[in-house]
Amino acid sequence: MTTFANALLAWFDRHGRHDLPWQHPRDAYRVWLSEIMLQQTQVSTVIPYFQRFLAKLPTLGDLATADEDTVLALWSGLGYYRRARFLHRAAQRCVELHNGELPREFDALAALPGIGRSTAGAILAQAYGLRFPILDGNVKRVLTRYHGIAGHPGEREVEKQLWLRADEHTPAERTADYTQAIMDLGATVCVRARPLCDACPMRNECIAFRENLTAQLPTPKPG
Ligand code: ADE
Repeated sequence: MTTFANALLAWFDRHGRHDLPWQHPRDAYRVWLSEIMLQQTQVSTVIPYFQRFLAKLPTLGDLATADEDTVLALWSGLGYYRRARFLHRAAQRCVELHNGELPREFDALAALPGIGRSTAGAILAQAYGLRFPILDGNVKRVLTRYHGIAGHPGEREVEKQLWLRADEHTPAERTADYTQAIMDLGATVCVRARPLCDACPMRNECIAFRENLTAQLPTPKPG
C-alpha cells in the first residue's frame, strides 16, 4: 500500500465519516443513489433526500416501475434534474438487461445513463469492494496538491496523470473505506480555500504544503 493510502486510512479510522446512511447497509442500489445525489450536492443536503427517496422507492425494481413524476417529485429541491431522469432510465435498463441489478462489470456500469468513469468506480469500490479508482472534483484537488501537479485538471494530459495517481493509491484492501476516506479528506480538510493542513495526515509528503503552493493548486481554468 502507498504511504498515501496508509496515512489516509489511519486518518479515516479516527476522523472520517462512518455513519452516513449509504454506509449501512452498503448495498449497490443505496450506494448508487447516494453517488448520483452527491455529484453536485453536499452530504448534509443529500441525507434527508436520500432517506425520503429510499422510503418511497426502497429497491431498484421500485424505481424502475415508478412514474417519472414520482421520481422528479422526490428529487424536487436537489436541482440538476437530469440526474433524476438518468437514474430512472438506468434503473429501467438494469431491469431490461441486467436481471434487475446494478452490473458489477465496469463497462456495463459505466454505460448506464448518468454513470461516468468516476461514479462507476465509486459504486464498484463501495458496494462490492472492488479495486477501482475514483476522480471527482475533491479527489482531483487532493492529488494535484499532494503530487504538485500543475495545469488545469480539465486538461487531457493533467487528467490522465491524475487518473494514474488515483489508480496507484487505491489499495486492494479496504477499498470501500479508502474511497470514502479520500472524498471526506477533500470535503473537510483539503478544501479549496484555506485548507486545514494542520489536520492533514499527508502533509509531510504533500508537495503543495511543503512548497507553500496550496493557494496555487489546483491550477485555475485558463482565461
Ligand atoms: N461525493 C461523492 N460521493 C461522496 C461520498 N460517498 N461521500 C462524500 N462526498 C461524496
